[in-house]
Parts: sequence; C-alpha cells; structure tokens
Amino acid sequence: MSIDTATGEEAPAELSSERVKSIFSQIARKYERFNAVSSFGAYRLWLSGMMRQAPISAADEVLDIAGGTGDVTFAVARAKRPAHIQCTDLVPEMLDVARMHHEAGAANGVPVDFEVVDAQDIPYPDASFDVVTMAYGIRNMPDRPRALSEMHRVLRPGGALVCLEFSTPPNRAWRALYGFYLKHLIPFWGGLITGDKDGFVYLAKSIRAFPDQQGLAALMEEAGFRDVTWKNYTGGIAAVHVARKPE
Ligand SMILES: C[S@@+](CC[C@H](N)C(=O)[O-])C[C@H]1O[C@@H](n2cnc3c(N)ncnc32)[C@H](O)[C@@H]1O
Repeated sequence: MSIDTATGEEAPAELSSERVKSIFSQIARKYERFNAVSSFGAYRLWLSGMMRQAPISAADEVLDIAGGTGDVTFAVARAKRPAHIQCTDLVPEMLDVARMHHEAGAANGVPVDFEVVDAQDIPYPDASFDVVTMAYGIRNMPDRPRALSEMHRVLRPGGALVCLEFSTPPNRAWRALYGFYLKHLIPFWGGLITGDKDGFVYLAKSIRAFPDQQGLAALMEEAGFRDVTWKNYTGGIAAVHVARKPE
C-alpha cells in the first residue's frame, strides 16, 4: 500500500514521488543551508551519532540510499574508510551537488560511485552490500514496506541497515514544544531564510505524519530485519535505528 507522505493517508505513489522530485530538484543547491536552518545546526550532531552507531569496517561495501548531496556518504568515507560507497538518490540534481563535493575531495580518497536509484526498486543484485545507510530518506517514500524490503534484499546476511530520521520525543512537554515549532515556526522561519516555504511546509507535515521510534522499528521487522535498536538524539527529535538482516 502506498501513502501520501505528507499525511500518512493511503494515496497513489506518484503523488508523493512527483512532489519529492519537484521539491528536491528545486532546492538541491540550497539543500545544505535548508538542513542547517531547519535543525538549528543539530543535524551535524545527529550525523556524528549515526557514524558512531554505524557498524562499518574497512572491507565493507556500503550503499547510501537517498544520499542527496552526499552528507552521509562523505561522513562514512571520512569516519570509516570502507572499500567502496555507492551513493544513490531519486533526484539527479541532488547527486550533481554530491558529485561536485566528490570532485573537491570530500571522500578523502575512498572510492565512491553515484547513481540515480529509487529505493523502492533497487537495481542491484541480492546480498551485494554489507551496510545500507539512509538519512531522512524513508519518510519521503510512499511505499515504505517495499523500500525496506529492497534494502533487506540487497544486504548480505548479517549486514546492517543504519537509518537516521526525524522521530517523536517521548517526553510530553518537549513533544508539545517541538509540535508547536513544527506547525507554526518552521514554515515561517525556513521560508524566510531560504525563500522556499513549500519545502518547509512539506518537511513539517511529513515529520508529523511519520511513525514514532517503535513504529519505524515495527516496519523494519515486517521487512525481515531483526535486532532493531535505536538511539534518540535531542530528546527524540531524531533517532538512529540500526537493524540486522539475519545470518
Ligand atoms: C532530506 S534529503 C536527505 C539527503 C541526505 N541523506 C542527507 O542526509 O542530507 C532526502 C532525500 O531523499 C531522496 N528521496 C526521496 N524519495 C526517494 C526514493 N524513493 N528513493 C531514493 N531517494 C529518495 C530525495 O531526493 C532527497 O535527496
């Protein structure tokens, strides 16, 4: 079943796919500023947390899903120096920015290839990667069970999915404050700074409609993952889930 990623309601997949293509192709060159503004810079902290949790070693073949402008790919390259990273995204304009960073040396000599890939239909053979990384990707996908099954399929047995995503603060007061920020402040403030109000309205809606930590873990388990754990950041505004494909 596919959903509208802005509401969580059942809807044809094209609705969300076309919207996401339109938003990210337009903001590709401003995306990094957009990220910094929407999280008040906290995304750097969350990315470091993701690196600490990611079980990646030097011989590993890594697939970065929804890699965008390459933030996760280059962080993995610097922190873990794996054998190779396949950086993929649905939107070519986002990967163009990632390629630009790569040409400027962002991967520190780690081999990286780029390819336009829809995570719901991954064009790689079964069991071809040791680790799949994904930051702020799954929330934008209308058929999440299918995307997670695809990630599970391309992982070798024993391999891991490492997923950074916005989530739900468990503390009631913090959740209420954050809810107010999402609903009222983020579209205004984001629009003012970047001139792209629509992207921020979508961001806020999609976060509110996204499952909480337990909900995302359940989706991962339904796709065949086991040993799903997560760690909250900034009181649960973001969470990093690590899930294993059984041996
Ligand atoms: C918020 S950005 C995150 C980019 C990057 N991972 C980061 O941490 O900065 C979300 C990305 O998801 C990509 N995306 C959305 N739907 C996708 C899909 N079905 N398959 C692959 N990528 C997708 C978008 O094109 C966009 O680049």
